[in-house]
Amino acid sequence: MVSSASPARQRRRLVVGNWKMNGDRSANAVLLGALKAAAPFQAQVAVCAPAPYLADVAASLEGSGIGWGGQDCSSHAAGAFTGETSAAMLADLGCRYVIVGHSERRALHGEGDQIVAEKARQALACGLTPIVCVGETLAERDAQRTAAVVKRQLAAAIDLLGADIGKAVVAYEPVWAIGTGRTATPAQAQAVHADLRAALVAANAADISILYGGSVKADNAASLFAEADIDGGLIGGASLQADAFVAICRAAA
Ligand code: PGA
Repeated sequence: MVSSASPARQRRRLVVGNWKMNGDRSANAVLLGALKAAAPFQAQVAVCAPAPYLADVAASLEGSGIGWGGQDCSSHAAGAFTGETSAAMLADLGCRYVIVGHSERRALHGEGDQIVAEKARQALACGLTPIVCVGETLAERDAQRTAAVVKRQLAAAIDLLGADIGKAVVAYEPVWAIGTGRTATPAQAQAVHADLRAALVAANAADISILYGGSVKADNAASLFAEADIDGGLIGGASLQADAFVAICRAAA
């Protein structure tokens, strides 16, 4: 285990499922039923569902101790933005979290660091916890630019949010590990988390949670979560399987 930039772990343990554009009402009900049956968890647990299902998810999870959230929000507060979902709408549905800057949004929807930071600001303004995603592509890693890329991505959020960065969660998700079955090793992930932690320490936000995401499975979660600066996970594919997701949530205890 690599030593941490912050001396003692006081951060919350958090596991968040990112369902992406998957599910339907009946499959969601089965999945949520299994999660509720396995609750309570020692770690905080949440699922980020597609926006059309959030009302169902809220009704199902209310009172369960499991939180829920959106997968994205607008960088605007309200108005003529067809197809967008505002942070206020997510808050209205009882969301606690919203993912911003997921690499699929960055790559497929052209979202840059500034837009991502503005989305995080909207989330905080509505009382949500933004999960700010950062991560390098394989080409960037091969060019030894990982630290520079993730620090630049995080700096945009720190610059815009100021002290409020302390109310966010950061997720390190190497793009080459997302949905590929190719997980970062615990040491590779910890090295990046330590860099992110150092940047957060400098911003007086040492104690926020930094999640790892990218092919986290039931059999590799515990070794990742044992690292000093890895406080939990952002889970894609495995969050759609109740048994796997429950095992990952328990690994974060
Ligand atoms: P994965 O996705 O667990 O399927 O790799 C993680 C994510 O994209 O958040």
